[in-house]
Amino acid sequence: MTGKKIDEKSNIYSYLDNPVDGGCFVRILTIQGWAFSVTGEKVEIDILMNNELFDTITITEKRDDVKTAFVDFNINAICGFKKTYQKKDIIKYGETFNVAARIKDATGHEKMLGPVIVQKVDSIPEGPIRANYGLVWDAVAKTEETARHSVSGFANLDEYDRAGRESVEMFKSLVGIHPEDIILEIGCGVGRVGRIIAPLCKKWIGTDASKNMLKYAEQGLLEGHKNIELIHTNGFDLSDVESETVDFVYSHFVFMHIDEWDRYIYVKEAYRILKPGGKVYIDNINLCGNDGWNSFITLCEIDPACRPPNISKTSTPEELYMYLEKGGFKDIKIIPESLVVSGIGTKP
Ligand SMILES: C[S@@+](CC[C@H](N)C(=O)[O-])C[C@H]1O[C@@H](n2cnc3c(N)ncnc32)[C@H](O)[C@@H]1O
Repeated sequence: MTGKKIDEKSNIYSYLDNPVDGGCFVRILTIQGWAFSVTGEKVEIDILMNNELFDTITITEKRDDVKTAFVDFNINAICGFKKTYQKKDIIKYGETFNVAARIKDATGHEKMLGPVIVQKVDSIPEGPIRANYGLVWDAVAKTEETARHSVSGFANLDEYDRAGRESVEMFKSLVGIHPEDIILEIGCGVGRVGRIIAPLCKKWIGTDASKNMLKYAEQGLLEGHKNIELIHTNGFDLSDVESETVDFVYSHFVFMHIDEWDRYIYVKEAYRILKPGGKVYIDNINLCGNDGWNSFITLCEIDPACRPPNISKTSTPEELYMYLEKGGFKDIKIIPESLVVSGIGTKP
């Protein structure tokens, strides 16, 4: 959850998540936040543009993060607000204008969020490009906590550990893990999976384009494990790894963050470094699955100016099949699930 702001006099707690001060948009402006009154009074939100009343909205969104953060108040999880406005509807406010949200409860108490300054732009403002993988992911992995959160969606250590174990169980059932195996991960992050797989194999090699990720991987991994090697890669190939030296290569929760060409290049690199008979595993969010489609639709709502460079992009089952087939793999198996599609193949 983002910050919390408290107005003790009015008993209104609230926060504006979006827009942020200095934010910009190309197509749509999303106003999003949360608000509740500790007395349980219903709240409404006046949206102000350049200090003029523009719209009044109500609470509609479920915010489990807020409910958890304010557990003592036993509030309703439906305490969020969100509305998007098209550029054409707010053009009259000029190129740069201010946005505020006035929260009101039924007893006449008020609380002001903002104003924040936003800017309309005609093209995407400059920022780090997606394919600058190392820099983009170093920025994500500024602290150990943000790094851990970004690789699994969990900052909580127990959840993070459970998710890592689930991944390893999946590899065991799909391809098998053997004590003599040399295993390499493309995009290993902080070693969420590596720390669990390493004790089960001869050697685990973690590769990643982000030095920060590898720094946290090293701190959390190397102690107690002598069969681990971490390699900082250029984000495009595995040129530091010798051909035909590895038994199993996997890339888990990485393809959504990289471009199609780089996905395929990694599949070809996996083929090169695998011994004959070695196996590869790749996955991505499944555009053709129900949950995968929902995740795609959710991201449609993000204004192009606000899309992070590492935003998740999906794959279809056919796309993964194509990479594996054209990459030379045999015995290809594609597993399309509701959220994730995965593919495995064997080097003949
Ligand atoms: C969502 S995390 C997943 C980490 C890990 N596979 C896991 O399941 O815990 C994505 C990882 O891929 C790395 N990454 C992103 N682009 C990459 C690229 N082109 N080459 C290698 N690693 C990359 C990031 O630095 C990050 O550590």
